[in-house]
Amino acid sequence: MDRREDFLPLSRPAIGNEEIEAVASSLRSGWITSGPRVVELEGQFCDLTGAPHAVAVSSATAGLHLVLMTLGIGRGDEVVTPSLTFASTVNQVALAGAVPVFADSDYGTLLTPPEEIARRITPRTRAVIPVHFAGAPADLDPVRDAADRAGVPVIEDAAHAVGTAYRGKAVGGSGNVAIFSFHPIKNITTGEGGMVTCGDEGMARRLRLLRFHGIERDAWRRYGKGGTPHYDIQDPGYKYNLTDIQAAIGVVQMRKVAELNERRAHLASRYLEGLADVPGVDLPASPPYPHLHSWHLFIVKVTSMDRDAFIGRLAEYNVGAGLHFPPCHLLRFVRERYGTKEGDLPSCERAGSRIVSLPLFPGMSEADVEYVCAAVREIVAGGAR
Ligand SMILES: Cc1ncc(COP(=O)(O)O)c(C=O)c1O
Repeated sequence: MDRREDFLPLSRPAIGNEEIEAVASSLRSGWITSGPRVVELEGQFCDLTGAPHAVAVSSATAGLHLVLMTLGIGRGDEVVTPSLTFASTVNQVALAGAVPVFADSDYGTLLTPPEEIARRITPRTRAVIPVHFAGAPADLDPVRDAADRAGVPVIEDAAHAVGTAYRGKAVGGSGNVAIFSFHPIKNITTGEGGMVTCGDEGMARRLRLLRFHGIERDAWRRYGKGGTPHYDIQDPGYKYNLTDIQAAIGVVQMRKVAELNERRAHLASRYLEGLADVPGVDLPASPPYPHLHSWHLFIVKVTSMDRDAFIGRLAEYNVGAGLHFPPCHLLRFVRERYGTKEGDLPSCERAGSRIVSLPLFPGMSEADVEYVCAAVREIVAGGAR
């Protein structure tokens, strides 16, 4: 096959003139840090998810940090999380002084079966963190049941799941706390940023305090017309607020999220067709319950050759790739600190050594998908160099 001359990246944010105009307008407005655009974005999230509260933060990682703090999770506590997730979760649990307890993942869907979470709950467990992996929803109901029996909260890692739905309900609206990411690779972006949704008013209030120094009202309300410059602090907080410049991008992206996700789903279906009969490549399996997949990532498993060699060969065809994710229980600090080792989580390790994320973003053309499929076919057949 003919090789393309331009590089096809793993991802590219879907930024158009409307986002650029919205940023320019925010810059011209005279108020560029947290303000009316952040409030608007939070409202859009409540509308999308059905959650009564949405709190914008500077990243999903920051959101998780604040949620762990709000729940009082710290030294000696255990938090059950999949190993197949981004390291930021494990880092935050470790930094809080708690112990991450790793659950295995299903090889086909890359989601964590609820029983894998349930059987790791002990009297020391203080939270469980199911991950809506690659845009597919975790099986929340049985996770919720197991957590309820133990009396612990469910923290949904919804970093990949803006627009995902589980059994007819939008992710973020279940009453659990859920954390979304707006990193540039994600389904919608603000450059960097995140959103926490929750059903509990007390938690939302505490998150708002902790994201901005512990100050009751943010600067917008203190320095705006009719505001008062005084403030007091009951508990010290962090500086994790989202700016209006960022939120301005997010407000426009949120108006398009359904359309952007439909495009992703269409491209994913083209991949599924184009790679269906390619030997040596396992395709993502569909969760066996009603859902809406937001197709954040399209992840295949390469079984007939070394995964890293496969990624190297893709680069020769000018195609980018991703690795989501190296299993966390095999990261060096995790092994050294918590004594985890190879062999602990067979299914996750089997997947972890084979996974490759192929390019998927709304601006891709169908011809791009066909090109990647043809390249994959040629590579696994051991063809042209
Ligand atoms: C599963 C998962 N959780 C959390 C995060 C953290 O998101 P952020 O980069 O917004 O902190 C990511 C980001 O890639 C992720 O993939």
